[in-house]
Amino acid sequence: MLPKRRRARGACPGGTAAASAPAPVRFPDVVIYLVEPRMGRSRRAFLTRLALSKGFRVLDACRWPSPRKSPQGWGGCPPMPASGPRPSLTTTPPSRAASVLRALPRPVTAHSQLQGLPHFGEHSSRVVQELLEHGVCEEVERVRSSERFRTMKLFTQIFGVGVRTADRWYQEGLRTLDDLRQQPRRLTAQQRAGLQHHQDLSTPVQRPEAEALQHLVEAAVGQALPGATVTLTGGFRRGKLLGHDVDFLISHPKEGREAGLLPRVMHHLQSQGLVLYHQHQPSCFGAPERLARPSRSMDAFERSLCIFRLLQPPGAALGGPAKAGPAWKAVRVDLVVAPSSQFPFALLGWTGSELFERELRRFSRKEKGLWLSSHGLFDPEQGTFISAASEEDIFRCLGLRYLPPEQRNA
Ligand code: CTP
Ligand code: MN
Ligand code: MN
Repeated sequence: MLPKRRRARGACPGGTAAASAPAPVRFPDVVIYLVEPRMGRSRRAFLTRLALSKGFRVLDACRWPSPRKSPQGWGGCPPMPASGPRPSLTTTPPSRAASVLRALPRPVTAHSQLQGLPHFGEHSSRVVQELLEHGVCEEVERVRSSERFRTMKLFTQIFGVGVRTADRWYQEGLRTLDDLRQQPRRLTAQQRAGLQHHQDLSTPVQRPEAEALQHLVEAAVGQALPGATVTLTGGFRRGKLLGHDVDFLISHPKEGREAGLLPRVMHHLQSQGLVLYHQHQPSCFGAPERLARPSRSMDAFERSLCIFRLLQPPGAALGGPAKAGPAWKAVRVDLVVAPSSQFPFALLGWTGSELFERELRRFSRKEKGLWLSSHGLFDPEQGTFISAASEEDIFRCLGLRYLPPEQRNA
């Protein structure tokens, strides 16, 4: 995108191109489609003229490349990485359509039920129709069984591996976990731990396990600082029965008391032999307005990304591989610390789902002109933060009806 200043001056090639016919096509293999919602109509028109004047082809309507031609097509869109910054998936519209389907109160049984649903284009409708008629969709199956999709899925499920890393490994010809294990020096400590416990970590965490972990974390936090609070967030707060990890938010009602708490909590947990791996990230607070910036990068809270050693109740490990000593299972746990003044925003941000948060932040920015993040709600025109005492308060500030966590499973 060009800075607004340049556009305002009007001395731009796109402007002159508007009056004349488009230049001859110089890049026949490249097609550009400009997504209007994030840039607005006039900027899109400007960029369209600019692209045409340079000899690019610009699509008026959104026709996405078929997965056959592009390994990055919608079906090839890999699952979310386990941690770290996440590339945007909003550019793959069927993932929004899938989200709409998931949010419906009942399963779709007839094609007519799709009428009027947002984000349902021709492609998603065709996929659903085929599924309804035949029980399977050929295109979906083709993508799912493709080497690229299967490898990307396998790699991005490893703790510490994002889409970019998985893609690089794939390009280099790596295909299996053993391929990775043979190159330990190329792996980060996090990825090595992820591989080491891969079997357990790829087994979904169950709600009773999340509850058992909550007791352990509460006990450690209580010992480290009486009065500090532990709140279950993530998918389990949204009522999910299974998860890929367990997320906790730690705070203290008195602002500032949470400082230095996390290392003490980790120490208590480690001394009980509960921690197989952890990576501590100190908070990285900068200027307050920067925290509010609606970028997709990570928030600045102090955190510990862990793998816990959770003892299994007797009988729970039946069928699993024999392990020396009492049966246990490796479980991914995220511990995040927020000061009390930011707690409602951190709670909202860490409850997810990721797609729900993204849409909420987009709504806040586009419709209300406010920047929502896990740190606060910022009014860029006034240069001030809008305070909120609870999640309900935040929804109110955004002019939205409150949605309980169970209804945020977008
Ligand atoms: N999150 C975040 N910053 C991160 C990681 C996660 O803000 N670096 C937020 C996301 O909004 C996400 C929520 O924390 O929705 C929980 O993240 P995650 O554990 O990855 O997803 P869950 O929704 O809990 O799904 P699962 O049950 O698979 O763990
Ligand atoms: Mn989670
Ligand atoms: Mn998590």
